[in-house]
Amino acid sequence: MQEALSGDKKVFLETFGCQMNENDSDRILGFLKDIRYSRTYEPGKADLIIINTCSIRDKAEQKVYSALGRFKELKSWNPGLIIGVSGCVAQQQGAKLLKRAPYLDIVFGPHNIHRLKDLLDEASLKKRPVAVEQSAEIGADEYGFTLPSTKHRAFVSIMRGCDNFCAYCIVPYTRGREVSRGSAEVVEEVKRLSDEGVKEVTLLGQNVNSYGNNGGDVSFPCLLRMVAGVEGIERIKFITSHPKDISEELIYLFRDEPKLCRHIHLPVQSGSDGVLRKMGRGYTVDEYFSRVSLLRSLYPGMAITTDMIVGFPGETGADFDDTMALLDRVRFDSIFSFMYSPRPGTKAASFKEQVPFEVKSERLRILMAAQREISLERNRRLEGSTIEVVVEGASKTDVEELSGRTSCGRVVNFPAPEGERTEAGCLIDVSITHAFPNSLRGMVAERLKA
Ligand code: 5AD
Ligand code: SF4
Repeated sequence: MQEALSGDKKVFLETFGCQMNENDSDRILGFLKDIRYSRTYEPGKADLIIINTCSIRDKAEQKVYSALGRFKELKSWNPGLIIGVSGCVAQQQGAKLLKRAPYLDIVFGPHNIHRLKDLLDEASLKKRPVAVEQSAEIGADEYGFTLPSTKHRAFVSIMRGCDNFCAYCIVPYTRGREVSRGSAEVVEEVKRLSDEGVKEVTLLGQNVNSYGNNGGDVSFPCLLRMVAGVEGIERIKFITSHPKDISEELIYLFRDEPKLCRHIHLPVQSGSDGVLRKMGRGYTVDEYFSRVSLLRSLYPGMAITTDMIVGFPGETGADFDDTMALLDRVRFDSIFSFMYSPRPGTKAASFKEQVPFEVKSERLRILMAAQREISLERNRRLEGSTIEVVVEGASKTDVEELSGRTSCGRVVNFPAPEGERTEAGCLIDVSITHAFPNSLRGMVAERLKA
Protein backbone atom coordinates (compact mmCIF):
# COMPACT_ATOMS: atom_id res chain seq x y z
CA MET A 1 0.00 0.00 0.00
CA GLN A 2 1.14 3.53 -0.80
CA GLU A 3 3.13 5.13 1.97
CA ALA A 4 4.60 8.22 0.36
CA LEU A 5 1.72 10.56 1.09
CA SER A 6 2.86 13.90 2.35
CA GLY A 7 0.78 16.09 4.61
CA ASP A 8 0.07 17.66 7.96
CA LYS A 9 -2.28 15.07 9.42
CA LYS A 10 -1.94 11.33 9.83
CA VAL A 11 -4.35 8.57 8.90
CA PHE A 12 -4.20 4.97 10.08
CA LEU A 13 -6.15 2.73 7.70
CA GLU A 14 -6.89 -0.94 8.23
CA THR A 15 -8.44 -3.00 5.44
CA PHE A 16 -10.37 -6.24 5.69
CA GLY A 17 -11.67 -8.39 2.84
CA CYS A 18 -11.31 -8.66 -0.91
CA GLN A 19 -9.33 -6.80 -3.57
CA MET A 20 -12.34 -4.58 -4.13
CA ASN A 21 -11.86 -3.36 -0.57
CA GLU A 22 -8.10 -2.98 -1.08
CA ASN A 23 -8.93 -0.83 -4.07
CA ASP A 24 -11.43 1.21 -2.05
CA SER A 25 -8.70 1.77 0.54
CA ASP A 26 -6.38 3.03 -2.19
CA ARG A 27 -9.16 5.41 -3.26
CA ILE A 28 -9.66 6.57 0.33
CA LEU A 29 -5.92 7.36 0.53
CA GLY A 30 -6.17 9.15 -2.83
CA PHE A 31 -8.94 11.45 -1.56
CA LEU A 32 -7.15 11.99 1.77
CA LYS A 33 -3.92 12.95 0.04
CA ASP A 34 -5.78 15.87 -1.55
CA ILE A 35 -6.59 17.19 1.92
CA ARG A 36 -3.06 16.75 3.22
CA TYR A 37 -3.26 13.51 5.13
CA SER A 38 -0.25 11.21 5.17
CA ARG A 39 -0.33 7.57 6.18
CA THR A 40 0.89 6.17 9.45
CA TYR A 41 1.12 2.52 10.47
CA GLU A 42 0.89 3.41 14.17
CA PRO A 43 -2.68 4.01 15.37
CA GLY A 44 -1.34 5.95 18.39
CA LYS A 45 0.05 8.65 16.07
CA ALA A 46 -3.11 9.03 13.99
CA ASP A 47 -5.52 12.00 13.76
CA LEU A 48 -7.89 9.79 11.80
CA ILE A 49 -8.47 6.04 11.99
CA ILE A 50 -10.50 4.30 9.30
CA ILE A 51 -11.47 0.65 9.33
CA ASN A 52 -12.50 -0.49 5.86
CA THR A 53 -14.73 -3.45 6.54
CA CYS A 54 -15.93 -6.68 4.95
CA SER A 55 -19.15 -8.57 5.66
CA ILE A 56 -18.85 -11.51 3.26
CA ARG A 57 -18.64 -14.02 6.12
CA ASP A 58 -19.47 -13.65 9.80
CA LYS A 59 -15.83 -14.06 10.81
CA ALA A 60 -14.83 -11.04 8.73
CA GLU A 61 -17.56 -8.95 10.35
CA GLN A 62 -16.52 -9.95 13.87
CA LYS A 63 -12.96 -8.75 13.18
CA VAL A 64 -14.32 -5.22 12.75
CA TYR A 65 -15.77 -5.16 16.24
CA SER A 66 -12.56 -6.38 17.82
CA ALA A 67 -10.53 -3.78 15.86
CA LEU A 68 -12.90 -1.03 17.02
CA GLY A 69 -12.49 -2.15 20.63
CA ARG A 70 -8.73 -1.70 20.28
CA PHE A 71 -8.98 1.86 18.94
CA LYS A 72 -11.59 3.10 21.41
CA GLU A 73 -8.92 3.50 24.13
CA LEU A 74 -6.98 5.97 21.98
CA LYS A 75 -9.81 8.51 22.17
CA SER A 76 -9.37 8.98 25.90
CA TRP A 77 -5.97 10.61 25.50
CA ASN A 78 -6.53 12.08 22.03
CA PRO A 79 -10.05 13.61 22.09
CA GLY A 80 -9.57 15.13 18.61
CA LEU A 81 -9.14 11.67 17.10
CA ILE A 82 -11.71 10.86 14.41
CA ILE A 83 -12.66 7.19 14.05
CA GLY A 84 -14.49 6.03 10.95
CA VAL A 85 -15.86 2.81 9.56
CA SER A 86 -16.22 2.33 5.82
CA GLY A 87 -16.92 -0.62 3.54
CA CYS A 88 -19.61 -3.27 3.49
CA VAL A 89 -20.35 -3.44 7.24
CA ALA A 90 -20.81 0.35 7.22
CA GLN A 91 -23.12 0.12 4.23
CA GLN A 92 -25.22 -2.61 5.81
CA GLN A 93 -25.32 -1.55 9.43
CA GLY A 94 -25.22 2.26 9.06
CA ALA A 95 -26.41 3.98 12.23
CA LYS A 96 -26.80 0.61 13.96
CA LEU A 97 -23.02 0.54 14.26
CA LEU A 98 -23.25 3.48 16.63
CA LYS A 99 -25.20 1.43 19.11
CA ARG A 100 -22.29 -0.97 19.38
CA ALA A 101 -19.64 1.73 19.12
CA PRO A 102 -21.03 5.11 20.25
CA TYR A 103 -17.59 6.73 20.04
CA LEU A 104 -17.58 6.41 16.22
CA ASP A 105 -17.47 9.70 14.26
CA ILE A 106 -18.10 8.70 10.66
CA VAL A 107 -19.71 5.74 8.97
CA PHE A 108 -19.74 5.62 5.17
CA GLY A 109 -20.49 2.95 2.58
CA PRO A 110 -18.40 2.05 -0.51
CA HIS A 111 -20.40 4.49 -2.68
CA ASN A 112 -19.57 7.51 -0.57
CA ILE A 113 -15.80 7.55 -0.53
CA HIS A 114 -15.83 10.67 -2.71
CA ARG A 115 -17.73 12.46 0.11
CA LEU A 116 -15.03 11.77 2.67
CA LYS A 117 -13.80 15.37 2.84
CA ASP A 118 -17.32 16.69 3.64
CA LEU A 119 -17.84 13.94 6.19
CA LEU A 120 -14.59 14.80 7.94
CA ASP A 121 -15.49 18.50 8.01
CA GLU A 122 -18.87 17.68 9.48
CA ALA A 123 -17.38 15.35 12.07
CA SER A 124 -14.74 17.83 13.25
CA LEU A 125 -17.07 20.85 13.26
CA LYS A 126 -20.20 19.48 14.84
CA LYS A 127 -18.76 16.51 16.64
CA ARG A 128 -22.32 15.15 17.00
CA PRO A 129 -24.45 13.96 15.30
CA VAL A 130 -22.15 11.56 13.61
CA ALA A 131 -22.01 11.70 9.82
CA VAL A 132 -23.53 8.51 8.50
CA GLU A 133 -23.59 8.03 4.76
CA GLN A 134 -25.20 4.98 3.27
CA SER A 135 -26.70 6.52 0.16
CA ALA A 136 -26.19 4.57 -3.01
CA GLU A 137 -26.30 7.74 -5.12
CA ILE A 138 -23.15 7.97 -7.17
CA GLY A 139 -21.44 11.28 -7.84
CA ALA A 140 -19.53 11.94 -11.06
CA ASP A 141 -16.25 11.78 -9.19
CA GLU A 142 -17.18 8.60 -7.39
CA TYR A 143 -14.14 6.62 -8.47
CA GLY A 144 -11.55 9.34 -7.91
CA PHE A 145 -7.94 8.57 -8.64
CA THR A 146 -6.57 5.42 -7.10
CA LEU A 147 -3.16 5.54 -5.54
CA PRO A 148 -1.33 2.39 -6.64
CA SER A 149 -1.00 -0.29 -3.95
CA THR A 150 2.62 -0.82 -4.87
CA LYS A 151 4.84 1.00 -7.32
CA HIS A 152 4.46 -1.47 -10.17
CA ARG A 153 1.04 -3.05 -9.56
CA ALA A 154 -2.39 -1.46 -9.34
CA PHE A 155 -6.06 -2.37 -9.23
CA VAL A 156 -8.58 -0.50 -11.33
CA SER A 157 -12.32 -0.71 -10.71
CA ILE A 158 -14.27 -1.13 -13.92
CA MET A 159 -17.69 -1.60 -12.37
CA ARG A 160 -19.44 -1.76 -9.06
CA GLY A 161 -22.21 -3.85 -7.54
CA CYS A 162 -23.68 -7.15 -8.63
CA ASP A 163 -27.07 -8.25 -10.00
CA ASN A 164 -26.66 -11.98 -9.50
CA PHE A 165 -28.05 -12.46 -6.02
CA CYS A 166 -26.45 -15.86 -5.43
CA ALA A 167 -28.42 -17.28 -2.50
CA TYR A 168 -25.52 -17.12 -0.02
CA CYS A 169 -24.05 -13.74 -0.95
CA ILE A 170 -24.34 -10.36 0.77
CA VAL A 171 -22.58 -8.38 -1.99
CA PRO A 172 -25.67 -7.26 -3.96
CA TYR A 173 -27.05 -5.85 -0.69
CA THR A 174 -23.89 -4.03 0.37
CA ARG A 175 -22.56 -2.89 -3.00
CA GLY A 176 -25.87 -2.40 -4.77
CA ARG A 177 -26.87 -2.93 -8.39
CA GLU A 178 -24.30 -3.51 -11.09
CA VAL A 179 -23.12 -0.39 -12.95
CA SER A 180 -20.16 -0.30 -15.34
CA ARG A 181 -17.73 2.58 -15.56
CA GLY A 182 -17.15 4.29 -18.93
CA SER A 183 -14.28 2.83 -20.95
CA ALA A 184 -12.63 6.23 -21.55
CA GLU A 185 -12.47 6.84 -17.81
CA VAL A 186 -10.95 3.40 -17.19
CA VAL A 187 -8.32 3.91 -19.90
CA GLU A 188 -7.54 7.39 -18.56
CA GLU A 189 -6.87 5.93 -15.10
CA VAL A 190 -4.66 3.19 -16.56
CA LYS A 191 -2.67 5.83 -18.48
CA ARG A 192 -2.13 7.85 -15.32
CA LEU A 193 -1.00 4.73 -13.48
CA SER A 194 1.39 3.85 -16.29
CA ASP A 195 2.83 7.39 -16.13
CA GLU A 196 3.54 6.72 -12.43
CA GLY A 197 5.49 3.58 -13.32
CA VAL A 198 2.79 0.91 -12.94
CA LYS A 199 3.45 -2.13 -15.15
CA GLU A 200 0.66 -4.46 -14.11
CA VAL A 201 -3.02 -3.66 -13.79
CA THR A 202 -5.80 -5.86 -12.45
CA LEU A 203 -9.26 -4.84 -13.62
CA LEU A 204 -11.77 -5.31 -10.83
CA GLY A 205 -15.47 -6.11 -10.78
CA GLN A 206 -17.74 -8.63 -9.06
CA ASN A 207 -18.57 -10.06 -12.46
CA VAL A 208 -16.30 -8.55 -15.11
CA ASN A 209 -17.84 -10.67 -17.87
CA SER A 210 -21.02 -8.64 -17.69
CA TYR A 211 -19.09 -5.35 -18.08
CA GLY A 212 -21.04 -3.05 -20.39
CA ASN A 213 -24.47 -4.57 -19.69
CA ASN A 214 -25.46 -1.73 -17.37
CA GLY A 215 -23.56 1.40 -18.28
CA GLY A 216 -20.16 1.17 -19.94
CA ASP A 217 -19.98 1.57 -23.69
CA VAL A 218 -18.01 -1.45 -24.96
CA SER A 219 -17.79 -5.18 -24.21
CA PHE A 220 -15.31 -6.54 -21.66
CA PRO A 221 -12.96 -8.04 -24.29
CA CYS A 222 -13.00 -4.68 -26.09
CA LEU A 223 -12.13 -2.88 -22.84
CA LEU A 224 -9.24 -5.32 -22.32
CA ARG A 225 -7.91 -4.51 -25.81
CA MET A 226 -8.15 -0.78 -25.07
CA VAL A 227 -6.23 -1.22 -21.80
CA ALA A 228 -3.63 -3.36 -23.58
CA GLY A 229 -3.08 -0.42 -25.93
CA VAL A 230 -1.77 1.74 -23.08
CA GLU A 231 1.97 2.17 -23.41
CA GLY A 232 4.04 0.98 -20.46
CA ILE A 233 1.48 -1.57 -19.23
CA GLU A 234 3.02 -5.02 -19.54
CA ARG A 235 0.62 -7.33 -17.71
CA ILE A 236 -3.16 -7.26 -17.51
CA LYS A 237 -5.23 -9.38 -15.14
CA PHE A 238 -8.87 -9.32 -14.11
CA ILE A 239 -11.13 -10.61 -11.35
CA THR A 240 -13.74 -11.97 -10.93
CA SER A 241 -15.31 -13.92 -13.78
CA HIS A 242 -18.70 -15.57 -13.43
CA PRO A 243 -18.68 -18.95 -15.22
CA LYS A 244 -22.16 -18.37 -16.67
CA ASP A 245 -21.08 -15.18 -18.45
CA ILE A 246 -17.63 -16.00 -19.82
CA SER A 247 -17.70 -15.42 -23.60
CA GLU A 248 -15.85 -17.18 -26.44
CA GLU A 249 -14.50 -13.76 -27.44
CA LEU A 250 -12.81 -13.51 -24.04
CA ILE A 251 -11.51 -17.08 -24.22
CA TYR A 252 -9.82 -16.35 -27.57
CA LEU A 253 -8.40 -13.06 -26.33
CA PHE A 254 -5.96 -15.10 -24.21
CA ARG A 255 -4.48 -16.23 -27.53
CA ASP A 256 -4.51 -12.86 -29.29
CA GLU A 257 -3.45 -10.44 -26.56
CA PRO A 258 0.04 -11.17 -25.22
CA LYS A 259 -0.29 -8.71 -22.32
CA LEU A 260 -3.22 -10.70 -20.92
CA CYS A 261 -1.93 -13.04 -18.20
CA ARG A 262 -2.92 -16.64 -18.76
CA HIS A 263 -4.72 -17.02 -15.48
CA ILE A 264 -8.43 -17.06 -14.81
CA HIS A 265 -10.16 -17.06 -11.44
CA LEU A 266 -13.43 -18.84 -12.12
CA PRO A 267 -15.38 -19.46 -8.90
CA VAL A 268 -17.34 -22.73 -9.15
CA GLN A 269 -18.58 -22.81 -5.50
CA SER A 270 -19.74 -26.47 -5.59
CA GLY A 271 -19.37 -29.68 -7.61
CA SER A 272 -23.00 -30.68 -7.12
CA ASP A 273 -25.69 -29.68 -9.64
CA GLY A 274 -28.32 -29.74 -6.88
CA VAL A 275 -26.34 -27.33 -4.71
CA LEU A 276 -25.48 -25.07 -7.66
CA ARG A 277 -29.19 -24.85 -8.46
CA LYS A 278 -30.05 -23.89 -4.87
CA MET A 279 -27.26 -21.34 -4.91
CA GLY A 280 -28.75 -19.85 -8.09
CA ARG A 281 -25.45 -19.96 -9.97
CA GLY A 282 -26.91 -20.46 -13.45
CA TYR A 283 -24.64 -23.28 -14.71
CA THR A 284 -24.24 -27.03 -14.28
CA VAL A 285 -21.06 -28.86 -13.34
CA ASP A 286 -20.70 -30.15 -16.93
CA GLU A 287 -21.12 -26.66 -18.38
CA TYR A 288 -18.43 -25.40 -16.03
CA PHE A 289 -16.15 -28.27 -16.89
CA SER A 290 -16.54 -27.71 -20.64
CA ARG A 291 -15.41 -24.04 -20.29
CA VAL A 292 -12.39 -25.11 -18.28
CA SER A 293 -11.56 -27.90 -20.75
CA LEU A 294 -11.70 -25.47 -23.68
CA LEU A 295 -9.34 -23.07 -21.89
CA ARG A 296 -6.94 -25.86 -20.97
CA SER A 297 -6.96 -27.35 -24.48
CA LEU A 298 -6.26 -23.97 -26.08
CA TYR A 299 -3.64 -22.90 -23.53
CA PRO A 300 -2.05 -25.90 -21.77
CA GLY A 301 -0.13 -23.75 -19.23
CA MET A 302 -3.14 -21.65 -18.27
CA ALA A 303 -3.66 -21.32 -14.51
CA ILE A 304 -7.22 -21.91 -13.34
CA THR A 305 -8.19 -21.02 -9.79
CA THR A 306 -11.53 -21.10 -8.03
CA ASP A 307 -13.63 -20.47 -4.92
CA MET A 308 -15.48 -23.30 -3.15
CA ILE A 309 -18.07 -23.20 -0.39
CA VAL A 310 -18.62 -26.27 1.79
CA GLY A 311 -21.68 -26.86 3.95
CA PHE A 312 -24.18 -24.80 1.96
CA PRO A 313 -27.66 -25.50 3.44
CA GLY A 314 -28.86 -28.98 2.44
CA GLU A 315 -25.40 -30.11 1.22
CA THR A 316 -25.38 -33.90 1.73
CA GLY A 317 -22.41 -36.23 1.98
CA ALA A 318 -23.08 -37.20 -1.65
CA ASP A 319 -23.06 -33.51 -2.72
CA PHE A 320 -19.74 -33.07 -0.98
CA ASP A 321 -18.39 -36.18 -2.74
CA ASP A 322 -19.38 -34.49 -6.02
CA THR A 323 -17.34 -31.43 -5.01
CA MET A 324 -14.34 -33.66 -4.28
CA ALA A 325 -14.83 -35.39 -7.64
CA LEU A 326 -14.83 -32.01 -9.44
CA LEU A 327 -11.63 -31.03 -7.64
CA ASP A 328 -10.03 -34.21 -8.92
CA ARG A 329 -11.43 -33.73 -12.45
CA VAL A 330 -10.37 -30.09 -12.95
CA ARG A 331 -7.17 -30.12 -10.87
CA PHE A 332 -7.21 -26.39 -10.09
CA ASP A 333 -3.90 -24.61 -9.63
CA SER A 334 -5.17 -23.25 -6.34
CA ILE A 335 -8.47 -22.65 -4.59
CA PHE A 336 -9.96 -20.41 -1.93
CA SER A 337 -12.27 -22.54 0.19
CA PHE A 338 -14.80 -21.39 2.75
CA MET A 339 -17.29 -22.80 5.23
CA TYR A 340 -20.74 -21.52 4.39
CA SER A 341 -21.59 -18.59 6.69
CA PRO A 342 -25.26 -17.49 6.84
CA ARG A 343 -25.55 -13.78 6.07
CA PRO A 344 -28.62 -12.00 7.44
CA GLY A 345 -30.99 -10.92 4.67
CA THR A 346 -29.76 -13.39 2.05
CA LYS A 347 -32.02 -16.16 0.72
CA ALA A 348 -29.92 -19.06 2.01
CA ALA A 349 -29.83 -17.73 5.58
CA SER A 350 -33.49 -18.76 5.92
CA PHE A 351 -33.05 -22.22 4.34
CA LYS A 352 -34.07 -24.87 6.86
CA GLU A 353 -31.37 -27.52 6.45
CA GLN A 354 -28.35 -25.64 7.85
CA VAL A 355 -25.30 -27.93 8.07
CA PRO A 356 -23.78 -28.28 11.57
CA PHE A 357 -20.49 -26.48 12.16
CA GLU A 358 -18.54 -29.72 12.87
CA VAL A 359 -19.64 -31.19 9.53
CA LYS A 360 -18.70 -28.02 7.64
CA SER A 361 -15.36 -27.84 9.36
CA GLU A 362 -14.52 -31.50 8.63
CA ARG A 363 -15.49 -31.07 4.96
CA LEU A 364 -13.29 -27.98 4.72
CA ARG A 365 -10.36 -29.88 6.20
CA ILE A 366 -10.76 -32.75 3.68
CA LEU A 367 -11.10 -30.34 0.76
CA MET A 368 -8.04 -28.31 1.73
CA ALA A 369 -5.87 -31.40 2.24
CA ALA A 370 -6.81 -32.76 -1.20
CA GLN A 371 -6.15 -29.40 -2.88
CA ARG A 372 -2.76 -29.11 -1.22
CA GLU A 373 -1.67 -32.27 -3.03
CA ILE A 374 -3.11 -31.05 -6.33
CA SER A 375 -1.47 -27.60 -6.01
CA LEU A 376 1.85 -29.32 -5.33
CA GLU A 377 1.43 -31.56 -8.38
CA ARG A 378 0.53 -28.56 -10.61
CA ASN A 379 3.54 -26.61 -9.30
CA ARG A 380 5.87 -29.58 -9.80
CA ARG A 381 5.17 -29.46 -13.54
CA LEU A 382 7.03 -26.16 -13.56
CA GLU A 383 10.28 -27.56 -12.12
CA GLY A 384 13.03 -27.23 -14.70
CA SER A 385 11.26 -24.52 -16.71
CA THR A 386 12.25 -20.86 -16.99
CA ILE A 387 9.55 -18.36 -16.12
CA GLU A 388 9.37 -14.59 -16.31
CA VAL A 389 8.86 -13.15 -12.83
CA VAL A 390 7.97 -9.60 -11.74
CA VAL A 391 10.01 -8.72 -8.64
CA GLU A 392 7.84 -7.69 -5.68
CA GLY A 393 10.50 -7.18 -2.99
CA ALA A 394 12.38 -9.09 -0.31
CA SER A 395 11.13 -12.61 0.41
CA LYS A 396 8.95 -12.92 3.53
CA THR A 397 11.04 -15.76 4.93
CA ASP A 398 14.57 -14.64 4.02
CA VAL A 399 15.54 -10.99 3.48
CA GLU A 400 18.59 -12.06 1.44
CA GLU A 401 16.17 -13.45 -1.13
CA LEU A 402 13.80 -11.82 -3.56
CA SER A 403 10.20 -12.67 -4.08
CA GLY A 404 8.24 -12.20 -7.28
CA ARG A 405 5.19 -13.41 -9.14
CA THR A 406 4.72 -15.26 -12.39
CA SER A 407 2.07 -13.97 -14.79
CA CYS A 408 -0.23 -16.67 -13.38
CA GLY A 409 0.18 -15.19 -9.91
CA ARG A 410 2.45 -17.87 -8.41
CA VAL A 411 4.95 -16.70 -5.80
CA VAL A 412 8.60 -17.41 -6.73
CA ASN A 413 11.47 -16.96 -4.24
CA PHE A 414 15.06 -16.76 -5.48
CA PRO A 415 18.48 -15.48 -4.35
CA ALA A 416 19.03 -11.85 -5.34
CA PRO A 417 21.38 -11.70 -8.35
CA GLU A 418 24.44 -9.45 -8.06
CA GLY A 419 24.91 -6.54 -10.42
CA GLU A 420 21.39 -6.61 -11.80
CA ARG A 421 18.43 -4.30 -11.29
CA THR A 422 16.14 -5.98 -8.79
CA GLU A 423 13.79 -3.27 -7.55
CA ALA A 424 10.06 -3.99 -7.39
CA GLY A 425 8.60 -4.08 -10.88
CA CYS A 426 11.68 -5.47 -12.67
CA LEU A 427 11.16 -8.49 -14.93
CA ILE A 428 13.59 -11.37 -14.35
CA ASP A 429 13.75 -14.85 -15.92
CA VAL A 430 13.93 -17.45 -13.17
CA SER A 431 14.64 -21.17 -13.58
CA ILE A 432 12.42 -23.15 -11.24
CA THR A 433 14.30 -25.63 -9.06
CA HIS A 434 11.74 -26.61 -6.37
CA ALA A 435 7.97 -26.67 -6.14
CA PHE A 436 5.91 -26.34 -2.92
CA PRO A 437 2.12 -26.29 -2.58
CA ASN A 438 1.95 -22.49 -2.31
CA SER A 439 5.17 -21.25 -3.88
CA LEU A 440 8.14 -22.00 -6.12
CA ARG A 441 11.90 -21.64 -5.64
CA GLY A 442 14.40 -20.85 -8.35
CA MET A 443 17.63 -19.24 -9.53
CA VAL A 444 18.00 -16.33 -11.92
CA ALA A 445 18.25 -18.02 -15.33
CA GLU A 446 21.53 -16.43 -16.46
CA ARG A 447 23.30 -17.52 -13.26
CA LEU A 448 22.09 -21.07 -13.59
CA LYS A 449 23.64 -21.26 -17.05
CA ALA A 450 26.99 -19.86 -15.87
N1 5AD B 1 -20.32 -18.02 3.12
C1 5AD B 1 -19.16 -18.56 2.72
N2 5AD B 1 -18.47 -18.13 1.65
C2 5AD B 1 -19.00 -17.11 0.94
N3 5AD B 1 -18.57 -16.48 -0.17
C3 5AD B 1 -19.46 -15.52 -0.47
N4 5AD B 1 -20.46 -15.51 0.41
C4 5AD B 1 -20.21 -16.50 1.30
C5 5AD B 1 -20.89 -16.99 2.44
N5 5AD B 1 -22.05 -16.47 2.85
C6 5AD B 1 -17.36 -16.85 -0.87
C7 5AD B 1 -17.66 -17.30 -2.32
C8 5AD B 1 -17.17 -16.13 -3.12
C9 5AD B 1 -16.02 -15.63 -2.27
C10 5AD B 1 -15.57 -14.24 -2.56
O1 5AD B 1 -16.51 -15.72 -0.95
O2 5AD B 1 -16.90 -18.46 -2.59
O3 5AD B 1 -16.76 -16.50 -4.43
FE1 SF4 C 1 -21.96 -12.59 -4.80
FE2 SF4 C 1 -22.85 -14.16 -6.78
FE3 SF4 C 1 -22.48 -11.52 -7.19
FE4 SF4 C 1 -20.34 -13.10 -6.88
S1 SF4 C 1 -21.84 -13.22 -8.57
S2 SF4 C 1 -20.69 -11.09 -5.91
S3 SF4 C 1 -21.09 -14.59 -5.41
S4 SF4 C 1 -23.98 -12.46 -5.82
